[in-house]
Amino acid sequence: MPRDNMASRIQKIARQALLTFRKNGSTSQADEGKSFLENVNKLTALLSEIRAEDLNIAPRAAGPLPAPISVPHNPPVTYMHICETDAFSMGVFLLKSGACIPLHDHPGMNGLLKVLYGQVSISGFDKLDAAGAKKKEKATAAPLQQQFNPPLLSHQKDALRRALLRSVGEFSESSGPCLLSPHRNNLHQINAVDGPAAFLDILAPPYDPDDGRDCHYYKLLQLAAGSELLAGQADPSVPQEVWLLEIPQPADFWCGGEPYPGPKVSL
Ligand SMILES: [Fe+2]
Repeated sequence: MPRDNMASRIQKIARQALLTFRKNGSTSQADEGKSFLENVNKLTALLSEIRAEDLNIAPRAAGPLPAPISVPHNPPVTYMHICETDAFSMGVFLLKSGACIPLHDHPGMNGLLKVLYGQVSISGFDKLDAAGAKKKEKATAAPLQQQFNPPLLSHQKDALRRALLRSVGEFSESSGPCLLSPHRNNLHQINAVDGPAAFLDILAPPYDPDDGRDCHYYKLLQLAAGSELLAGQADPSVPQEVWLLEIPQPADFWCGGEPYPGPKVSL
């Protein structure tokens, strides 16, 4: 049997992720774009086939969410690290029943997320440039921070961001992977729906605060009744322009670690 057929599914995925995301300085930009897309398609196809049992992970039973902060040994979300290179990181996130990974970004990164068991709801946002926010502010008579419900404190104005709510969807074991890129769906919030859930996660390149890729958290703001910003937002369909506030990591979210029980990956 050829060597590749002997490899585990997760090994094939890791190898394809490396092919897709490693930097190759020897090809032209056009060639690079074409082969990148081909490689993403191959990776997506491999991810579509992976199941929890391929990683020796059994679906968890539903249980109550842990009490916040006071019980740090019982986190609402845990992470199983599988592998990491300069090009990508790969692991499994496990969400307890009712858990949520709050809205966060992946600066300059690509991502692929494949549900292994349970069901998650994912809202994806695109970042919009800060110039748009300044333009909107100039167009309003009242101070920007008073346009929201509840109103913002004046120092919070610097943490305001414009974004586009790009997609809202539910994903289960039978769904294909959910993709994000530096400019599309780069921010997302992930909620476990109707019980515990787990997903395989690939980030490329990995988070690295020393290289400008730190994780930031955001809160979706509600516009106040009568806000001048409501003009042009009458259509609630997606995509839809929204306002976000950058916030510290929410106190009710923290992520613990647990050992990965699946086949070893070597690169
Ligand atoms: Fe994420």
